[in-house]
Amino acid sequence: MANKFYITTPIYYPSGKFHIGTAYSTVVAESLKRYHELKGEDSYMLTGTDEHGQKIQTVAEKLGETPKEYVDKMAKAAKELWAKMNIKYDDFIRTTDERHEKVVQKIFDRFMEQGDIYKGYYEGLYCVPCETFFTETQLVDGKCPDCGREVVPMKEEAYFFNMKKYADRLLKYYDEHPDFVKPDYRKQEMINNFIKPGLEDLCVSRTSFDWGVKVLKDPKHVVYVWVDALTNYITALGYLSDDDTLFKKYWPADVHVVGKDIARFHLIYWPIFLMALNLPLPKTVFVHNWIMMKDGKMSKSKGNVIYPEQLIDRYGLDATKYFLLREMPSSQDGIFTPESFIDRYNFDLCNDLSNLLNRTVSMVNKYFEGQVPKYNGTPNAVDKELEDYCIEQIKKFEEKINNFEIANSLQEIWNLVARTNKYIDETAPWTLAKEEKTEELKSVMYHLIENLRKIAILIKPFMDDTSEKILKQIGIQDLNLKTWKSLLDYDKLENIKVIEKAEPMYMRLDAEKEIGYIKDLMMKK
Ligand code: MSP
Repeated sequence: MANKFYITTPIYYPSGKFHIGTAYSTVVAESLKRYHELKGEDSYMLTGTDEHGQKIQTVAEKLGETPKEYVDKMAKAAKELWAKMNIKYDDFIRTTDERHEKVVQKIFDRFMEQGDIYKGYYEGLYCVPCETFFTETQLVDGKCPDCGREVVPMKEEAYFFNMKKYADRLLKYYDEHPDFVKPDYRKQEMINNFIKPGLEDLCVSRTSFDWGVKVLKDPKHVVYVWVDALTNYITALGYLSDDDTLFKKYWPADVHVVGKDIARFHLIYWPIFLMALNLPLPKTVFVHNWIMMKDGKMSKSKGNVIYPEQLIDRYGLDATKYFLLREMPSSQDGIFTPESFIDRYNFDLCNDLSNLLNRTVSMVNKYFEGQVPKYNGTPNAVDKELEDYCIEQIKKFEEKINNFEIANSLQEIWNLVARTNKYIDETAPWTLAKEEKTEELKSVMYHLIENLRKIAILIKPFMDDTSEKILKQIGIQDLNLKTWKSLLDYDKLENIKVIEKAEPMYMRLDAEKEIGYIKDLMMKK
């Protein structure tokens, strides 16, 4: 039976339009899902929206809408964006779904019964008109960050989850499961910053607002944020409502993809909740960095926000996804600049990839009337070196992606693209043709087509449309020649005819003009 692969995105706060940074978690998760699917695994991807809480309630009130009307509208917008980005998820959970709320209540009850939750007081600085608590650091000039008015110290009754009880178990778990946290340095951050100094108990209910899941045994409380949000990963699979189908099949998750700002919740609180429920823990939590702008975080007030739709409409989906995935290092934040976006487009996609395809298709047409020669079985030294390089790159790609080094895995593919371009210069097919070295010329054409086929398969999880375009132009129709397994074959192409006229996939952009265009987008309010 095929391996299963269950991957999740964070569930999004529907508090505003998603920009290219927010879309990143989903683009990564979906690419990983497609990669595992291509490898023949039974993949399942969950995404959704995190719809409760005071902030949502306040935003809705300001718009004169009920919270439900507001979140319905926003969840619809999220689905529309994912459709535009061709994101193929298997389920979309909303924390306002009845299937979720009922199970959250059961889970909360169980925590209470087990004595994991106790009643105490939530203390903080409170803005009366906004009805919101803030911490000292959230204040702007000592005042409410939303309305600028004075805040007052306040306390309210709340339930707390006893995290301390589980701290040692968590440390032991980290120790025994080296793959639980990717990249590894995030684990040390958790230990040094939060666990070693003494884990604080977590506030899990509130009484100062009511847009949330009611605590059954104490209905003036609503469940507060993380018990409600994190449990989506299991409620969506039917935990405690239909445990024998999806939950049985897919839990534990193979990967939770999360941004660095929510690492703590996924690496500390979520494993502890699962321990309290006596459930297995996810195999890996992959923590990614952030997409930043030159002047820091994206924000409307700074006038530096870019929305995915804006890039997609002008440059296409694949170019947009390629940039996001390629420009995010594992060890630090990625930076979006109009210049780097256009460079990636002009160099990686147009010069390197698209030109390789064009040159190859044109030569096969010119020298062999479009018919791809057969593999000759006795490659010469230059051809053999290319074959070995290619197989080596495929292995490197797999190592990197299996270790969640997404940008590096793309780099390995582009190394193969560059090496294949270099092979054309090395073998100089035009000279072989002139000197009538037909056997050698045939072998060069075969190797070029074979490498393009492999490149198309390798990029498929990230750039589906570009991958299909390459395969179509080089005449690969047989499904067996599009599989992951077929990547390691080097001799199976027979009766392949390339299209008559190469169609450029990416045309060189006028850099200055396009940089100006993107800068204008960023200024738009
Ligand atoms: N609702 C919580 C998650 C609950 S999961 C049980 C939440 N939502 S969010 O909408 O604020 O963030 C969603 C995702 O977007 C997070 O992974 C966050 O890190 C990511 N990003 C937000 N801005 C980002 C960038 N600028 N760059 C990359 N990712 C960013 O947190």
